Amino acid sequence: MIDMEKVTRGLAEFASERFPVDKLNFHSMVEKKEVPIHRMSWGYYTGGLTMFFFMIQVVSGLFLLFYYQPTVSDAHVSVEYISHHVAGGALIRNMHAWSSSCMIFFAMVHLLTAFAMKSFEKPREITWIAGVILLFITFTFGFTGYLLPWNQIAVNATKVGLQSVEYVGQYLPGQLADVPRILRETFQGESSVGQSTLGRFYALHVVILPLLLGALLGLHLLSVQLHGMSQGVDVPARKSEKFVSIFIFKDLTLWATVFLALFVVALCIPFDSLLPFPLLAPFNALGSTPQGIKPEWYFYFVYYPLELLPFWVILIASIVVVSILFFTPWIFKGTSRRTLGFIAGAATAYLLVMTIFGEQIYHFFKH
Ligand code: HEM
Repeated sequence: MIDMEKVTRGLAEFASERFPVDKLNFHSMVEKKEVPIHRMSWGYYTGGLTMFFFMIQVVSGLFLLFYYQPTVSDAHVSVEYISHHVAGGALIRNMHAWSSSCMIFFAMVHLLTAFAMKSFEKPREITWIAGVILLFITFTFGFTGYLLPWNQIAVNATKVGLQSVEYVGQYLPGQLADVPRILRETFQGESSVGQSTLGRFYALHVVILPLLLGALLGLHLLSVQLHGMSQGVDVPARKSEKFVSIFIFKDLTLWATVFLALFVVALCIPFDSLLPFPLLAPFNALGSTPQGIKPEWYFYFVYYPLELLPFWVILIASIVVVSILFFTPWIFKGTSRRTLGFIAGAATAYLLVMTIFGEQIYHFFKH
């Protein structure tokens, strides 16, 4: 028989160690906070940078809302209107697009550094798990935002993406096999990608995902502040600096520099100019699917393997990687930071190679 009292006591103990409410005061969370100084200290800036890009997304996204129309008849025209006729519209749209890529890039770097620094160790398991969910939400922001300009390439890419979700059902047993189809129908909303899909992606992109991300980020930051910065290296650092005001000052200087760089890039380089397809062609249901459509760069690490290997291999690999990510604090409990650094380095090499050379690798094996 399960001893309910023991279970409840165990759960209460787990929660009180992860959220020590006695430290919920200005002195413990702000005045006393120190940031260790060592060779991996730069890793402590990556979460703040990701958060800064999220702030830019919220502000630039709110400006875009003034003019964007979430209907299949007007979405594309409204985006073109923003780009060519609204004062500063192209700048805001470019900032939103560039900063979305930066947010995803830094969320990945942040995960890799937090892993290498073993920042997931007890009592930071909840910080880590909230982080993993934040990363998935960030990817979903990218997927839903891609459809909103309602252009030929985006609508077709979304069809492929949603079909892949349904495809998973073939490999699941019993009634579980229906879940991916139900998911696709829920997000698609009608028999083919159309007005209902655009409406649902819009609701996700501008309301549901920001609220979810905001709430989880609150939990993430609360647990970071309650526990202070993790040690980060195997031999405890001998030096540290005050969070207020030294580290915060450096953080703000970095944010200001990054903002300036983003501003100049958004002013000079339209995000669309780097894409291999004419992004500005509106969706035409009678038009042909563009040859060789690709998702955004941040999905290449899974897209090219999907093109080269059987679907079930990628499915199993994804389930394994996602499970490892969620259970990292327990799986790598006894692993040294040296080994963790090695694993993070290997993962970084894989991500870089697939993102930069994915297309060449694809052609090499296909021809
Ligand atoms: C939207 C995405 C995210 C935002 C905005 C964010 C933000 C932050 C911030 C501001 C910090 C404190 C400064 C720092 O240590 O860098 C932090 C710490 C942390 N984050 Fe994230 N984070 C995100 C995603 C992630 C992901 C994907 C993971 C890993 C799965 C993660 C794991 C952690 C951990 C373990 C800490 C504690 C670091 C320490 O104590 O030294 N976060 N995050």
